[in-house]
Amino acid sequence: MSGIPHDHYEPKTGFEKWLHERLPIVSLVHSTMTIPTPKNLNWWWIWGIVLAFCLVLQIVTGIVLAMHYTPHVDLAFASIEHIMRDVNGGAVLRYVHMNGASLFFFAVYIHIFRGLFYGSYKAPREITWIVGMLIYLAMMATGFLGYVLPWGQMSFWGATVITGLFGAIPFVGEAIQTWLLGGPAVDNATLNRFFSLHYLLPFVIAALVIVHIWAFHTTGNNNPTGVDVRTKSKAEVEKDTLPFWPYFVIKDLFALAVILVIFFAVVGFMPNYLGHPDNYIEANPLVTPAHIVPEWYYLPFYAILRAFTSDVWVVQIASFVTGGIVDAKFFGVLAMFGSIFVMVLVPWLDTSNVRSGKYRPMFRWWFYLLVIDFIVLMWCGAQPAEPPYSTISLIGAGYWFAYFLVILPLLGVIEKPLPLPESIEEDFNNHYPSSQTPAE
Ligand code: HEM
Repeated sequence: MSGIPHDHYEPKTGFEKWLHERLPIVSLVHSTMTIPTPKNLNWWWIWGIVLAFCLVLQIVTGIVLAMHYTPHVDLAFASIEHIMRDVNGGAVLRYVHMNGASLFFFAVYIHIFRGLFYGSYKAPREITWIVGMLIYLAMMATGFLGYVLPWGQMSFWGATVITGLFGAIPFVGEAIQTWLLGGPAVDNATLNRFFSLHYLLPFVIAALVIVHIWAFHTTGNNNPTGVDVRTKSKAEVEKDTLPFWPYFVIKDLFALAVILVIFFAVVGFMPNYLGHPDNYIEANPLVTPAHIVPEWYYLPFYAILRAFTSDVWVVQIASFVTGGIVDAKFFGVLAMFGSIFVMVLVPWLDTSNVRSGKYRPMFRWWFYLLVIDFIVLMWCGAQPAEPPYSTISLIGAGYWFAYFLVILPLLGVIEKPLPLPESIEEDFNNHYPSSQTPAE
């Protein structure tokens, strides 16, 4: 791309030249490390590295767990107890994997909301965003499949409820559900295929992550000002960026170290805090738990799923118009998938010319409300499906859709943005007039 100072790799020794002509791998690593990175990236930009770390952590711990796990309905629960009690380091391994999933989702939510605030989804980063959304969907699927493997009560009943959602699809639903389960109900065939897919999907995620990184290395990183660094002249790019190594590598590693201190404190002192005690009871198809609650990271979408009961007027209209094909259950499923689909479309729903929320005085408040909405929905998802929680969920679900489908498109037209800086350097000098960088 024009204007980028490119620090070319020159093979020096005979071996380096030999390798470079056959496989330019050193040059690839070199160009990744010297990539010009906006110098104003703040702490919200560290979560990509945390996510990459989580993926590796989950794959490594998962592979070792799989060496001791048995995917059979009669043995699965006992094999987890065997890992916890008999395998060397087994309890730590399992707790790291369990809580690693939580850290993974915690990081991905911050990463997504960062993107939503700073407009990282806007042109030219639409592909980075869409691939990110595919990663997120694959993460959701992987987490769900993994939770079934210990074969506790929540594993079994969670799998029954979630696969039951597919049964709500008109005409073909039941066939799809049977096909997913490998039979009429959650059983040994289900456990086997879930184990197989739970092992496979992280590698699909890894492939998607490579495409994700490739895409944002092509466009360059966004940054808090939203200034598109790469369209500038070479001299300006040099002023506004720093090489990835050592500046951002050290910053990211420092942040990762701090996060890992907290992570290992949770693993060591409260490893079951985020889990459900019912999953320490072996699965029993004859006893339904009092409340079937998914893991915390699914709760906002679970709340949206349950918000649309048959007494909600939009559900009644949809049911009337479609002659009863769209009932409350199917509407809930559509709303749940729809709430993720509107995020996929956000590059086109946001009509503003201004990228960063920093310069959008009205947008900012609606965005903060979206974050609060997400947390409220998460809380509602853990409550029983009855008033007042169902009413709050409905309002929350309504705001979620309104934000993407109405507020974002309208704001682009009615909002008057704040003056935008020409460069990162200018933005810095505006904020810290006393510390003007000396002329070169
Ligand atoms: C395994 C999961 C993921 C990994 C390893 C990952 C990794 C990264 C990394 C390393 C960056 C650059 C620096 C940073 O922002 O931290 C990045 C940027 C980005 N990610 Fe992700 N990501 C993941 C999932 C997602 C998801 C689910 C989304 C949401 C759709 C997403 C959207 C973006 C966007 C829009 C950028 C560009 C921001 C910029 O240019 O600064 N990512 N990602």
